Amino acid sequence: MKPLSIVIAGRSGRMGREIESIATEHDLSVVGGVDRSSGSLANWLQAHPKPDAVIDFSLPEATREISSTCAGHGIPLVSGVTGLREIDRQDLERAAKKIPVLYSANMSIGVQMLARALDSLKGAEGFDVTIEETHHRLKKDRPSGTALLLNEELKERTGRAADEIVSLRGGGIVGTHRVFAFSDSESLTFEHNALNRTVFAHGACRAARWVVERGPGFYRLRDILS
Ligand SMILES: NC(=O)c1ccc[n+]([C@@H]2O[C@H](COP(=O)([O-])OP(=O)(O)OC[C@H]3O[C@@H](n4cnc5c(N)ncnc54)[C@H](OP(=O)(O)O)[C@@H]3O)[C@@H](O)[C@H]2O)c1
Repeated sequence: MKPLSIVIAGRSGRMGREIESIATEHDLSVVGGVDRSSGSLANWLQAHPKPDAVIDFSLPEATREISSTCAGHGIPLVSGVTGLREIDRQDLERAAKKIPVLYSANMSIGVQMLARALDSLKGAEGFDVTIEETHHRLKKDRPSGTALLLNEELKERTGRAADEIVSLRGGGIVGTHRVFAFSDSESLTFEHNALNRTVFAHGACRAARWVVERGPGFYRLRDILS
């Protein structure tokens, strides 16, 4: 594999550190990073050569600057930031007209598998559907991006949304998502547990290698798998 140079937005955060620690396993070389305190991506690019891709695991307030800078410099972008407002999402979609952008609120393969399993609820009559998400006490957004992603998948796959999304916060839980389907006489539970953050980091690195081969467009993690 040809080594690729990447810049991490949110490099010193929990996910940024995780990505940096495993990047070489994907033949990715972390050539730089930005944080709230370090200055903008645009400033970084003034002083350094253009990287092959940017992986963004910062926070929603940085999305506009990062997506517009990547679009302006022609740098493919992978974003896993959650808690995006509609306006942030539109920024990503605008950038995707000029560069390839892969966005996923959950970079694990297992959550994509869980989403696929929701096909089995198609046509199920008389079930109430609840999505429950549990995360560590420091998580800022609620409901989690993954819970919203699962709700979107549920709508696409079955034509119905969840009746309720429940959020729990506490301890060091990396991420647990359950989709319950309850009827009067039986219940089903679909469950995914992220056992560590490495699973998301591997997904993001894999996405970076994939996205640099693409033309402009807005991609999801499931595009890699299909
Ligand atoms: N898609 C997935 O699979 C997945 C998985 C896990 C987490 N996430 C999401 O990824 C994001 C980061 O999570 P985390 O747990 O790593 O958070 P974190 O530990 O709080 O790290 C956030 C990082 O973003 C930086 N940052 C904040 N505002 C910034 C700005 N305006 N410009 C540039 N950098 C900025 C912070 O810099 P300072 O330290 O200088 O403030 C820090 O390095 C969250 O949205 C989280 O929900 C997604």
